[in-house]
Order: sequence, then structure tokens, then C-alpha cells
Amino acid sequence: MSTGNPTVLLISDRDDQSRELGSWIGRVCTCRNVALDERPAGANAVAAVVTDVAFRDAAGIARLRSLLAPYRAAATPIMAVLRDNSHYGQVQAVALGATGVLPSTASSAEVCRAISEALGADIRAKPAHVAASTAEHVEQARLEFHTIFRAARCGEAFTRAEVENATGSVVEAVADGGIRRWLDIVWTYDNGTYQHCMLVTGLAAEFARSLGLSANDQKRLVRGALLHDLGKAKIPLSILNKPGRLEPAELTIMRTHPGIGHEILCGQGSYEPEILEVVLRHHELLDGSGYPDGLSGSQIGDLVRLTTICDVYAALIERRPYKQPMPPTRAFDILHGMGGKLEAALVRVFTRVAESSAAPVAA
Ligand SMILES: [Fe+2]
Ligand SMILES: [Fe+2]
Repeated sequence: MSTGNPTVLLISDRDDQSRELGSWIGRVCTCRNVALDERPAGANAVAAVVTDVAFRDAAGIARLRSLLAPYRAAATPIMAVLRDNSHYGQVQAVALGATGVLPSTASSAEVCRAISEALGADIRAKPAHVAASTAEHVEQARLEFHTIFRAARCGEAFTRAEVENATGSVVEAVADGGIRRWLDIVWTYDNGTYQHCMLVTGLAAEFARSLGLSANDQKRLVRGALLHDLGKAKIPLSILNKPGRLEPAELTIMRTHPGIGHEILCGQGSYEPEILEVVLRHHELLDGSGYPDGLSGSQIGDLVRLTTICDVYAALIERRPYKQPMPPTRAFDILHGMGGKLEAALVRVFTRVAESSAAPVAA
């Protein structure tokens, strides 16, 4: 941490056990404990919020939502410590505006690390007025993406307006604050799928700007990137969130996600053929070594080629608890070394995106 001793608000519905959590948080900053039925003063003085609340009843959830409102509005990092590791708990936490979710089994070291990372991102983001605006756009995009992804998982409809709102939020966030600030915020997401999809989408927005595409074409590329991994909504979480390498049988299941996403999107109606192609073809490679159909060369459209470059680069720079983050410069070297799999002329233009993503944000 680079500034003073920031204050973290700990909201809990169990005073007895939250003291231990409060003492862990106190190792990295000043911790203010607040009960679920209190109304803390001075939202501006809080650098981050940690919630330790059971999502048991509607009244408690409504109370927590109300308590968190000023912090959501101020784009303050909010971390939820879950009471159990059910999918419901994770979804509920995200719906309440949590920017990070910690499992019920998180150790003191994991809690301290998550808070340090959140505070680091926040401290970098706070000084400039433009940064607050960027953080709001990023948060808006995350919530909209969550709505779309959740609907796909549950077999429900999502609207074209929701996709357009999310697309607009990403374009504005990257235009306002630049790709590096976008990455700094998205890298704090614990949900690996959300982090990946938001990385790809932000990179696509920056790529579209670098290519000098028209406003409509920029949005088309960003829209395709936003939806490219929609099919992962139906992949079991045990495979999706598995730390480390997948077994062959798991890989086979994972590789069904382009077809699943294509089917979901066709069922929603009103999407352009190029967007459907991105969803179905983003793992095809120009030399024919990709999947699901081993297409090559001219069988792969322009929008797919652009998205695939963002997708490969995003996968390399993702940040997960179980693996060291790869520096953007190293990731670009790998991308550049993929030879005939990607379109060389487009990779050359992507150099500018990679350079921007490697540049530290000015304080
Ligand atoms: Fe994918
Ligand atoms: Fe992807």
C-alpha cells in the first residue's frame, strides 16, 4: 500500500466470530467493524468493504444491499466472505455488488492478500477524476455481463438492450481511462470466467480503436468479444474453475462451449451472422489446428480473427490464485510466435494494444 493507513469497513451479522476476521484485516489496514443493523457514517473515508453476512433471509439481504449502496455508487471495492461455497452464495454476492468473493475456507493470509490487492487497485484508481468515471463504467459492464451470463446459465432470455448497454459501458470505460486501467480493475475479479471475458472485451475495445474502426464496427467487435464465451455458462463449474490442467475428458467437455454458445445465441434471436460466427469459431486457427471444425484460412472471418487474437492474449495475462501472472510483454512474445495460426498483419497492429496494456497507469 502506498498511501497512509486506509480504512476497511467490515459488515458482519455475527459479532462474536467476526472479531477474528477483523483482526486479520487489521494486519493490512485500519478495520472498522459494523453490525448489519447499524448505519456507518462517512462512506468517503472507506477504502474497501468486506462483508461477512449469511445470505439466509430476504430482510438481511435487503439490509445489506442498502448498506452497500453508497459504496457501490463510489466504486469502492467490496469483498464478500461466503459462509458456504454454494453457487447461490457466489451469485448473491455478485448481485449485491461484490467485486471480489472469498470462500468460507479462506485463510487469514488469503483474506489479507485479497484486501491488499483491492486496496492497491483502488489507491491507483482514486486520484484522477477520470478514474472514478472509468471504475463506474467497468462496474456497470460487470453487472450487465453478470445478468447476461446468469440468464444463459439458467436458460432464460436476455435482451439485446442488455448486450448493447454492456458493450457501450466497455467502449466508454476504455475510451475514458485506457486499456491499462481497465485491466487493473478487471484483474481484481475472483471469478475466472468473468475476468477472462471482461479482459477479452476490453482488449477488443482497444484493438478496435487501434485499427481505426468506425463507431459501429468498434461496437460489433466488442459485442462479439463480450459474447464469445457465452457457452461457458453451461460448462460445469468443477471444470470451468479447475486450477491447473484439464484431463482429456474434461477438455472434451470444455471444447463444447463454442457450439453451446452458438446454440444459446441462435435461440435468443436478432444477432448478426458475424457475431454468431465469433461465438462458434473463436477457437479456430488459420493453419487448421483449431476447433471445433479445424477450419483454415479464408473459412475464418475477419471479426473472428480479431477476437481470437484478443482471446489468446487475454488467456495469457489472466491472474489466478494458483498461477503466476504473465507479464504483458512476455504474453505478446508468445502471441507473436504463433506464426501461421493468427493473421500476422493484425498481430502487428495488436502490438500497440499490448504496449498500452504493459504501461503502468500514471498516478
Ligand atoms: Fe472460448
Ligand atoms: Fe475466451
